[in-house]
Amino acid sequence: MVDFTLTDEQKDLREMAHNFAENEMRSVAWEYDKEGTWPQEVIDKAWEVGLMNSHIPEEYGGVGLDYLSGCLIEEELGWGCSGIGTSIGANGLAGAPVLIGGSEETKKKYLGMLTEEPKLASFCLTEPDAGSDVAGMKTRAVKKGDKYILNGSKCFITNGQYADWYTVYAKTDPDAGSKGITAFVVDGKQDAVTVDKKEDKMGQRASNTATITFNDVEVPAENMLGEENHGFKLAMMTLDRTRPGVAAMAVGIARGAFEAASEYSKERQQFGVPIAMHQAIQFLIADMAVKVDASRLLTWLSAVQLDQGKSNTLSSSEAKRFAADSAMEVTTDAVQVYGGYGFIKEYPVEKFMRDAKIMQLYEGTSQIQRMVIAREVLLPRNV
Ligand code: CAA
Repeated sequence: MVDFTLTDEQKDLREMAHNFAENEMRSVAWEYDKEGTWPQEVIDKAWEVGLMNSHIPEEYGGVGLDYLSGCLIEEELGWGCSGIGTSIGANGLAGAPVLIGGSEETKKKYLGMLTEEPKLASFCLTEPDAGSDVAGMKTRAVKKGDKYILNGSKCFITNGQYADWYTVYAKTDPDAGSKGITAFVVDGKQDAVTVDKKEDKMGQRASNTATITFNDVEVPAENMLGEENHGFKLAMMTLDRTRPGVAAMAVGIARGAFEAASEYSKERQQFGVPIAMHQAIQFLIADMAVKVDASRLLTWLSAVQLDQGKSNTLSSSEAKRFAADSAMEVTTDAVQVYGGYGFIKEYPVEKFMRDAKIMQLYEGTSQIQRMVIAREVLLPRNV
């Protein structure tokens, strides 16, 4: 049976997230975007009302939500401001490998840190010379007694300047390619961890993005996640779980732009009638509606498969690919509906368009999603 009916709890959660997005995010989003400043007050409020750490189980102090519910939240956060939303949601990416591969003590300690106080954690995979090609990373972890010594640099790290801990991927067997990578939890705020200045970005300017360098950092062996040399698969399994959330955020951005363009088209008069009366505009609006709804359907499918304990490698890449590309197209068309005004910062759609671009880049580019999709379709892995 196919049933898209949300439970009463899910409807309440979505309404709560929507009200939060409207009252606490949209009211300040354009100011944070303009200044590129850090939205700590909004993050604190999101933590207080339970919109952060949604997938951390209750035994570690979290909300323990299913993935579909998480996507309902992400869509609303994307609708409110995807820059602030990314800051709010990034603990989910850092926490997923801990949930999958951490020992009971590690989960209690590090996930507990995030649920006891509004603290942040970051996921450190990407390097200056290893973005799409994860196995090409250079960061090294060398075992010395009951510790690993970690050296290397990770870039484009979301919330990097504010994180209390990091999940870090490093080579433990440099000649073994993807089979020589191990993941660790690394404490932040120590002298051996250097945090560079934040990047000055085109969009999502309220989110913090920085380079983190590890200089002979001593990591206790018990902070290893999963088995030694199994970190690559852990990273891939993590991204399978988090890409539906990114897709949901892309749906939120697209929906925000679609709603704004629809409203504007009913107000703006040209040739004696609202521009919504012109077929040229109607077709743009119609295609936006299709892209928003189709993106959401793929996103929900990938989340529901996770909730049902099924493999979602294919559907999560399909959702991320389609929703991200659709968000770019929908926001670009929203600017088109606004005409020249769409290009002016006084109107909302240029921010949506700038914010949408990163959806095609982070957590795997649209081209990487196509690689995953093609492999899954042509040579499916046995899972
Ligand atoms: N689950 C479990 N195992 C998986 C898997 C999955 N989803 N995908 C691959 N694997 C396994 C494979 O089965 C294979 O195992 P065996 O060797 O035992 O057969 C192993 O992992 C290696 O897989 P591949 O041969 O497919 O590896 P590859 O080197 O060709 O790379 C890739 C594959 C899909 C391109 C991968 O490198 C990738 O996803 N790249 C994109 C990285 C990415 O998304 N980065 C985003 C960083 S995070 C971020 O952006 C957030 C932020 O804060 C900004």
